[in-house]
Amino acid sequence: MSELKEKSKRNRTIVVLPSEVDKLEEKITTFENLREKFENDSIIHGDLLECIEYIPNNYFDLIIVDPPYNLSKDFHGKRFTMMNDVEYEQYLRSWFYKLCDKLKSNGTLYMCGDWKCTSSMQRVISEKLTIINRISWQREKGRGAKRNWKNCMEDIWFAVKNPNNYCFNVEAVMMKRKVIAPYKVNGVPKDWDETSLGNFRLTYPSNFWDDISIPFWSMPENTDHPTQKPEKLYAKLILASTNEGDKIFDPFLGSGTTAVVAHKLNRKYVGIEINHEYCLWAAKRLNLAVENPNIQGYSDGVFWERNTLAAINKERHCNRENSYKSSSLDLKFENHE
Ligand SMILES: C[S@@+](CC[C@H](N)C(=O)[O-])C[C@H]1O[C@@H](n2cnc3c(N)ncnc32)[C@H](O)[C@@H]1O
Repeated sequence: MSELKEKSKRNRTIVVLPSEVDKLEEKITTFENLREKFENDSIIHGDLLECIEYIPNNYFDLIIVDPPYNLSKDFHGKRFTMMNDVEYEQYLRSWFYKLCDKLKSNGTLYMCGDWKCTSSMQRVISEKLTIINRISWQREKGRGAKRNWKNCMEDIWFAVKNPNNYCFNVEAVMMKRKVIAPYKVNGVPKDWDETSLGNFRLTYPSNFWDDISIPFWSMPENTDHPTQKPEKLYAKLILASTNEGDKIFDPFLGSGTTAVVAHKLNRKYVGIEINHEYCLWAAKRLNLAVENPNIQGYSDGVFWERNTLAAINKERHCNRENSYKSSSLDLKFENHE
């Protein structure tokens, strides 16, 4: 368990207390449990390579894969070591073909990568699935480098089993943007709305995503996982590519983002994670999701541009203070978007 250090008041990083462990363990499926019985809505603690044969074939509507990238990285004691491209592709193949067997014939798979491993991923994915698109996510934060450009982009490959039959709910992932040039025809707004909170346009989502930051320590979803994905990012994937009740698989669950977002959006989930501490974080996040099912940056059925939510939140807050009608306002917005 992480050391319990004194932390700033604004630091909302989720920690598991020693007193919580036994209860959280009840939410975690061991490899032995899995061998006896496979169940939906489970966090499986184990090695994907061992567990995979106990997961049913042709079962999932969506698989989200966020594997170790081809970098040397320490996942709290379990180290992934950078290899050459040929070896990394062999590593990907060691589980990817089996994962594809788990996908339904109309299923979708997303795989996350960075510039270094993305071409290996593209090659390996194409061996089994049809790639439909590549999303570029500008994740903003990246480590500055003196002799290189800062690395702050990630790729998300979007692939399907059958390009003629797959789920894509574009209306569920519309973007709400602030209108910069409020163009009117005969005094009427053209394709945008005047609201008390400002002028907004609802737009179709593109494959360039610049509205999502990585989880910061001031955000309630944050854990100490070194490569945690934001809930808003996975909410887009899940809403676009599944319907309520559908089943989602994450073979490298990490801190549990897929499970948490699936649960918040009324989908079923199964995740595998080799690190026990990460499984505990995932279990705790699932408990917290019951109390707070909001997804930061997604509200009223749309995805909001970065920083608009903070502004709207502030404005709503001021309105509330001014009008003394606090109960009628729905303050589900969070800052730090
Ligand atoms: C890139 S991280 C995933 C982060 C995750 N998307 C999140 O939001 O927290 C990859 C994860 O895969 C786990 N992992 C690596 N090898 C594994 C294996 N063979 N079986 C299961 N999990 C594994 C690591 O411990 C790490 O947490």
